[in-house]
Amino acid sequence: MTNHNLKIDQLYEKANRHLWQSLSESDENSKTQIAVKGEGAWSIDLDGNRYFEATSVHSCLNLGYGHEELIEAATEQMKHLAYFTPAKLQIPAIELATKLSDILQGNYTTFFSTSGSEANEVALKIARQYHIQSGNPNKYKFISHYNGYHGGTLGVQNVSSTPVFKSDFPGLMTPGFIHVLPPYEYRPPFGNQTESIEQSVANYIEEVIQREQPETIAGIFVEPVLFAGGCIVPSQEYLQLLSKICRKYEILLIVDEVVTGFGKTGKWFGFMHSKGVQPDIVTMAKGMTGAYIPLAATSVREKIYRTFKRKGNQFNHFSTMGPHPVGCAVALKNIEIIERDKLMNKVSKQSDTILSRLHELKSLNIVGDVRGIGFLYGIELVSNKKTKKPLNDERISQITAACEDKGLHFAMDENVIRLNPPLISTENDLHFLVDTLTAVLKDFNL
Ligand SMILES: Cc1ncc(COP(=O)(O)O)c(C=O)c1O
Repeated sequence: MTNHNLKIDQLYEKANRHLWQSLSESDENSKTQIAVKGEGAWSIDLDGNRYFEATSVHSCLNLGYGHEELIEAATEQMKHLAYFTPAKLQIPAIELATKLSDILQGNYTTFFSTSGSEANEVALKIARQYHIQSGNPNKYKFISHYNGYHGGTLGVQNVSSTPVFKSDFPGLMTPGFIHVLPPYEYRPPFGNQTESIEQSVANYIEEVIQREQPETIAGIFVEPVLFAGGCIVPSQEYLQLLSKICRKYEILLIVDEVVTGFGKTGKWFGFMHSKGVQPDIVTMAKGMTGAYIPLAATSVREKIYRTFKRKGNQFNHFSTMGPHPVGCAVALKNIEIIERDKLMNKVSKQSDTILSRLHELKSLNIVGDVRGIGFLYGIELVSNKKTKKPLNDERISQITAACEDKGLHFAMDENVIRLNPPLISTENDLHFLVDTLTAVLKDFNL
């Protein structure tokens, strides 16, 4: 055995003993990729194999790996002030909160934390306290979507719909969380309707609110694209309809932009495709720093923040690493680069000219649906186009393995391939993605 192979075997042995890998069953023989380096949109493993990260590794890598300007921003901030208390002020946090209000195109105040889950926990708490402070103490229920994902910590796991994230922890769930089916055009929840699917789901939600009593509903959580749950892309009308319902019943519209924020749809935020919609609360994480350092944010409109300014209404959530100065400095640089390099225009253009080729896959028997906006794409695999029966797990594993052999990584949600390449992907990278996927799916066509 060579020294190199010995080193790899030792690493696997140590990992199997001591490192708890997320979402993987304990398996003594588990040998997943050991990444050692990243260049642009590609990760590189110990053997020097290169993989195009077509889902930006959990939708994080906005500007790819090895971005000198982000590294420099972090290094400079570390030299100046590596950390400070969230209970006082530091300049990167002030500037970032101001910049977020600017790009959200409204008057927003931001609470910083460290993960998408925590940003949504904070949103839950703020919404609940806001209603108490504004004379609506009975508003405690939250509506969210099946196929929605908002995080895995205890509060927001109530909001998420992922069944295994709940069923393994009996007794820890809280009442007051209501789920509704999303406007999933390929699998319409109410059969064929004359009105738009968005309208029929919105009508249904209004009916739910009436039956639950409007004075008990605190907020509606929604992702502009339900990415983790199969890349479901509602039309721009959906958020407009939800916004109208929220205004009518004094319910807060809480838009989770953890995946869709920072340019992935071709605009700063996914909600911006819906003209006239200004969410009450917006949550962000992942692409905000391009994953160079963890940082998350919960931005609230002035009408909410105002109620927390009154004496005795302090917000009692503390996140030690919340407005981390290094994270804030990196996020500011990330935003500056997206603006300066016109990356959102690039996303819209390359979506139209390159990723739109993915729609041609619909001619294959194995592909039931292709849907997308900007750089977010979902390809739904089926074993029978008529019945829409999902492709079986074994075949799906073979497809992902064949793509990995060719240097292509992406995330699946059950039978849906989810794509979300880094904003800095080159034209060649994106053609590689479409060509490789097309070749493999043709090989596996039924
Ligand atoms: C839409 C959305 N919200 C929240 C989260 C939770 O983020 P985190 O894993 O950083 O806690 C995720 C994670 O995938 C997500 O997709």
